[in-house]
Amino acid sequence: MTANEIREAYKKFFESKGHLIVPSAPMVIKDDPTLMFTNAGMNQFKDIILGNTEPKCRRQTDSQKCLRVSGKHNDLEEVGHDTYHHTMFEMLGNWSFGDYFKEEAITWAYEFLVDVLKINPEHLYVTVFEGSKEEGLERDSEAAAIWGRFFPESHIINGNKHDNFWEMGDTGPCGPCSEIHIDSRTPEERAAVPGAELVNKDNPQVIEIWNLVFMQYNRKADGSLEPLPHKVIDTGMGFERLVRVMQDKHSNYDTDVFQPIIKKIGELSGYTYGEKEETDVAMRVVADHLRAIAFSIADGQLPSNAKAGYVIRRILRRAVRYAYTFLGQREAFLYRLLPTLVEEMGGAYPELPAQQTLIGRVMKEEEESFLRTLSTGISLLEGVIEQTVKAGSDTVDGEKAFTLFDTYGFPLDLTQLICSEKGLKVDEAGFNAEMQKQKERARNAAAVETDDWVVLAEGETQFVGWDALEAESRILRYRRVQQKKLTYYELVLDSTPFYAEMGGQVGDLRREAREQSAHTSHQETAR
Ligand code: SER
Repeated sequence: MTANEIREAYKKFFESKGHLIVPSAPMVIKDDPTLMFTNAGMNQFKDIILGNTEPKCRRQTDSQKCLRVSGKHNDLEEVGHDTYHHTMFEMLGNWSFGDYFKEEAITWAYEFLVDVLKINPEHLYVTVFEGSKEEGLERDSEAAAIWGRFFPESHIINGNKHDNFWEMGDTGPCGPCSEIHIDSRTPEERAAVPGAELVNKDNPQVIEIWNLVFMQYNRKADGSLEPLPHKVIDTGMGFERLVRVMQDKHSNYDTDVFQPIIKKIGELSGYTYGEKEETDVAMRVVADHLRAIAFSIADGQLPSNAKAGYVIRRILRRAVRYAYTFLGQREAFLYRLLPTLVEEMGGAYPELPAQQTLIGRVMKEEEESFLRTLSTGISLLEGVIEQTVKAGSDTVDGEKAFTLFDTYGFPLDLTQLICSEKGLKVDEAGFNAEMQKQKERARNAAAVETDDWVVLAEGETQFVGWDALEAESRILRYRRVQQKKLTYYELVLDSTPFYAEMGGQVGDLRREAREQSAHTSHQETAR
């Protein structure tokens, strides 16, 4: 089966079980202050899960574009070095909002993998939540008993809170989960060590493919768990991993999801995939990051110096750096791969072809500007190298290496590579110490703690600013926010003349209110 066929088979299977097929939500999130990017299929359903909105159908299914590069779920540094982590990936999901629960979720997962896709169940392992004393939660024996109808006990493994209690972020919906893992090793390897011993042990051939979450709680800001109004099923299957299993490959990058891009990288750079680890890593990084960048821009997030835009800029720079250092690319390169990506994924995601010109232009400009920075960094580094040699030392100062990193985006491994070409080392401990200091500075500046909302009255804010500059209103809800030494309150009012920040407009600001440590959150007031 091709990747496109596998995606369709999944959605069709759940459609046959009464699910409504819905499109992927954008990968860039604009209206949830707790998340910058969609990091799981359930994000777009958060309000339904919390009971704030009614679903249009109690059973839904989709393939969701996800990005795991910040916050609780961050795989960025692994990407390229292994064969199964990605920044952007697709998550196949099926949901029940207060409809079916563990029984059907488990039975259908087994049916899809074993009966429909014909995966050998002997190669599958499942995990169940072992319980947690500190949370006051019992082992999920119910899930274990259902799995017991399909698997022998040796294939059902207890897992701890870290692996088997899924949480969206520090706050929000959560619950115990059961993961399905597959053992793709050779028969000899399987005979030598049972797969059960390798589950969740970072073995690249024994990996998780599907996570079934039994959402039952909302994690509140004070860390406590409150029951959700309805029980929810949220499953997420790593699409690229499933394709790898179905196409009998040992790396996600060997499937038809990535191979056309990797071939194009080879064609343009003159390197062959599979010849040398160093260039293979670089090719995987470029292939992976290309997707993350292109889809983010298609979803409206341009690279910039702040927040989500900065994350995208960093991903793009990581790709440029690998292409520069290991694939010899001195000129903009990523944007030339875009037509191949559009050809492969444009059918399933029409936003890509629709925005192709813009995406290409933004990528090219960003690449060119970073390459200019890189060459400035190189001239500066040459000066530093000269001084080091003159001073009779064989080690470049860690502080100087950090300045290059911090001011010119010049990463340590690149500094090390260039220094080693001149027979010099870099003081890594000094570099790390500077990095640590900077992280602390950033943490102190950004640390924000928010309490839960205190709801005084139900209702939505009416915007009255078209006709009035002042209005009398009641407080609907409020919460306390602490940032550094400042404590302030965010208020949601039942009517307001304050204009919210949207579409690039600058919102109103009540300065005197803020000075009295009472701050009105304008985004909230106009929601
Ligand atoms: N929310 C779960 C996950 O992201 C299942 O979809 O793994």
